[in-house]
Amino acid sequence: MSMETSQQTYTFPKGFWWGSAASATQTEGSVPGDGKGPNIWDYWFEQEPTRFFNGVGPGETSQFYRKYKEDIRLMKEIGHNSFRLSISWSRLLPEGKGAINEEAVAFYNDVINELIANDIEPFVNLYHFDMPMQLQKIGGWVNRQVVDDYVNYATLCFQLFGDRIKKWFTHNEPIVPVEGGYMYSFHYPNEVDFQKAVQAGFHEILSNAKAIQAYKQLKQGGKIGIILNLTPSYPRSQNPQDVEAAEIADAFFNRSFLDPAVKGNFPGKLVTILKKEGFMPHMEEGDLALIKENTIDLLGINYYQPRRVKAKEHMPHPSAPFMPNHYFDSFDMPGRKMNVYRGWEIYEKGIYDILKKIQADYDNIECFISENGMGVEGEERFMDEEGVIHDDYRIEFISEHLKWVHQAIQEGSNVKGYHLWTFMDNWSWTNAYKNRYGFVSVDLQEDGKRTIKKSGHWFQSVSEKNGF
Ligand code: GAL
Repeated sequence: MSMETSQQTYTFPKGFWWGSAASATQTEGSVPGDGKGPNIWDYWFEQEPTRFFNGVGPGETSQFYRKYKEDIRLMKEIGHNSFRLSISWSRLLPEGKGAINEEAVAFYNDVINELIANDIEPFVNLYHFDMPMQLQKIGGWVNRQVVDDYVNYATLCFQLFGDRIKKWFTHNEPIVPVEGGYMYSFHYPNEVDFQKAVQAGFHEILSNAKAIQAYKQLKQGGKIGIILNLTPSYPRSQNPQDVEAAEIADAFFNRSFLDPAVKGNFPGKLVTILKKEGFMPHMEEGDLALIKENTIDLLGINYYQPRRVKAKEHMPHPSAPFMPNHYFDSFDMPGRKMNVYRGWEIYEKGIYDILKKIQADYDNIECFISENGMGVEGEERFMDEEGVIHDDYRIEFISEHLKWVHQAIQEGSNVKGYHLWTFMDNWSWTNAYKNRYGFVSVDLQEDGKRTIKKSGHWFQSVSEKNGF
């Protein structure tokens, strides 16, 4: 299927990274006897299956563990020159530390080699929401011991795979386990405790810096970065109270990780509030210096939706647990364009605004769009007789975002690539298989049969022409 357009308007720089991203827990599944240890998702699903859409857990899902050769062939077919995967910590180290699962080493070696053999550069992320259960039992990210366990795990990964992997990422969206696990109850351990939230976040930041330090010591010659979900904060109006509310939201949700990762320091607005409210994390001597000295080489930006903010209208009950939104309200802008399935606003220009901010305020650090995408429920209704899903809405979504990425490049942004979330339909945490995001559909009724969607064919032509 080719999609000729008469004229190409958007051409990207030579060598632009075209591909997609995925994560271990969402794609691999598990096979009896594979040696994988349980992580928080396996455990939580066992305990409370009803919290997952239609009661579907992470066990079967997309079966990348068995079908990765076929999947990599499909990646090649739809024009990938790069692909991000994550390593499952509890597959490699079933207890989170100690004994290594040799079958996992063989699996990841094989995946990496197969990608390289197909001219697809593997980008490897070390942590994508999947704390080994043994380490969650001692508190997960809230416990400082886990920072050291993580650095040991990261170092093992560098030693095992670093001869071939030249782009590493310490974390994917580190704020999400903080929000899900300790504020809004959509990740295990489902606590509501802002002090723990802050501590978990601080430990993730520390673990990022320590992993960077460990990586640099090995002198493997690659780059190491982090992947952050940046949600540009737009004030309802230019009223100073609205603007201040948006800046506070930005400090909590973007700059909390962006500033330490890129600049090695913390935003003043955030520190002031944490001090005032009595929620500063426990730190040890030398932590701040270590964070200052070990910053990233490369920034991955996940962009899905903006955050619209207005000044606080009603104060929460004085004894309600502290939450960042004690400082702002969200603003449901009338008439905003929505992805109704996911409940997220679609605002394409947001991707440009982020890139401009990175260019202006973060020294134009090398970056790429590491996730962007559209989850849609019930895509089967767009399927033709051959089983191909005609996801024109996804093609439109991607191209409208790419136009803004292109614009930022024209204006000097150092953005190096675009990865869709995601390669194939996968298990999306508590939403399980509700919304589908892939270039490739996966039929759960038919042993995970893969079929390239219209968007996948379209992406092949974009990659081949390096534009559209
Ligand atoms: C991101 C996350 C992915 C995926 C995606 C779509 O926040 O990194 O794992 O779930 O959202 O929901």
